[in-house]
Amino acid sequence: MIAPTAWGIFAGVISLQALQVLANCECGYTVNANGTESALYTEVLETDFSLTKDVSLDTDWVVQEWKVDSGPSHGPYGRETKRANVIPNPSGNDKTKPQIGTNGSPAGIELFVRKLQGNSQYVGVAEIDSARTDMFYGSFRAGINVPKTKGTCAAFFWYFNDTQEIDMEILTAQINDTSRPLHLVLHSPLSQQYGGDASQTPYYQIKNLDFEPSNDMHEYRFDWSPGRVDFYADGKFIQSMQDDIYVPSAPGKIIMSHWSNGNSKWSGGPPDQDAAMTVSYVKAYFNSSNPTRKLDYKRRCKDRTALNMVCKIPDQQGPPNIGSVPFFYKDTTGDMTPNQTIYARTAAKKKNVAASVTAGWTAIVVPVAATLWFMGGF
Ligand SMILES: *[C@@H]1O[C@H](CO)[C@@H](O)[C@H](O)[C@H]1NC(C)=O
Ligand SMILES: *[C@@H]1O[C@H](CO)[C@@H](O)[C@H](O)[C@H]1NC(C)=O
Ligand SMILES: *[C@@H]1O[C@H](CO)[C@@H](O)[C@H](O)[C@H]1NC(C)=O
Ligand SMILES: *[C@@H]1O[C@H](CO)[C@@H](O)[C@H](O)[C@H]1NC(C)=O
Ligand SMILES: *[C@@H]1O[C@H](CO)[C@@H](O)[C@H](O)[C@H]1NC(C)=O
Repeated sequence: MIAPTAWGIFAGVISLQALQVLANCECGYTVNANGTESALYTEVLETDFSLTKDVSLDTDWVVQEWKVDSGPSHGPYGRETKRANVIPNPSGNDKTKPQIGTNGSPAGIELFVRKLQGNSQYVGVAEIDSARTDMFYGSFRAGINVPKTKGTCAAFFWYFNDTQEIDMEILTAQINDTSRPLHLVLHSPLSQQYGGDASQTPYYQIKNLDFEPSNDMHEYRFDWSPGRVDFYADGKFIQSMQDDIYVPSAPGKIIMSHWSNGNSKWSGGPPDQDAAMTVSYVKAYFNSSNPTRKLDYKRRCKDRTALNMVCKIPDQQGPPNIGSVPFFYKDTTGDMTPNQTIYARTAAKKKNVAASVTAGWTAIVVPVAATLWFMGGF
């Protein structure tokens, strides 16, 4: 929930300076870990996909379209990543049930893995990437519901290249009443030394979730700071990976991906029916590698110690309640995201204040590393 103290103080300020629209959080956002503030970040990207009606209008995300053959796909099947497999399912008309989408499934953007069409050698899959590629350390959170259908890989990851990558992945074939493995991976020059096999390194861990990830929406989170990545599920700490050399140290982007290539050692599948991974929100608080954004921060953050200049990121506790997940950009008492690239807000203002930053990321990245393809022995 919303951190009561900071927001309480903020409400007080509003009453004193009534009618004046205040900017807040100009000096950034602090991460809460185990109840203590652990890092400060200057940038925000928040997307409430439970309200998204048309993802093509959302300039914060780039829907991927590319095709790879079975060889580079590292499985018996190739993959065809298509816009048609990314389907909005916004909250329905029943305002008392914001967590239910118009089609009756959980509200959010649906990333489909399609069942095989005829004799096709390609599995239809889905991926969206953040338009921002300048994410250099941060706290990344996503509300995700994985499908019950077996034979897909549901992935939430940060990516720069095949040796600079942080993954949280669920293989739906492995989920049952007694087993709920979550795969946590850092791809580094060390995994490259083992031919891309991160499982030979300390930076591949399998943790059993204490919930069934296909039953409800759950929050997956990783906090990446210099030399350290901490993983969380539903706000609960699950694993830390620490290393001065092998923790990524380059700017990159975040990716939501749902795929299958039929590799029995990893994704399994392809699924025998269309399967949707639903992403109801993504919230990212991060630092930027972009010189313009750094300069902007210097300009707007005049005094870190002044009231409301630093905002505390609310910690998720337990499964997220879609409809009441806190977002800074939705705060109605003042501007909590000054000069940030929040699509919903910038669209409302009919301008994109950070077009120079978000424009034009269209390069194709085949996320081979996220697949741990070595396990297939190809
Ligand atoms: C949070 O708690 C866990 C378990 O006690 C600990 O290992 C981890 O380092 C803590 N994280 C931070 C950022 O303090
Ligand atoms: C992010 O950038 C701010 C401003 O430069 C800096 O104070 C902060 O320490 C950085 N955070 C991390 C985790 O490096
Ligand atoms: C990934 O990027 C890092 C940092 O720029 C570089 O050192 C490394 O060689 C790159 N790895 C690959 C596989 O291209
Ligand atoms: C659950 O899955 C695990 C690993 O995927 C498997 O070893 C186990 O036999 C399965 N249990 C049941 C009851 O299906
Ligand atoms: C906001 O950010 C953009 C892009 O980084 C920058 O060009 C602009 O000057 C900033 N505006 C303000 C008011 O800080």
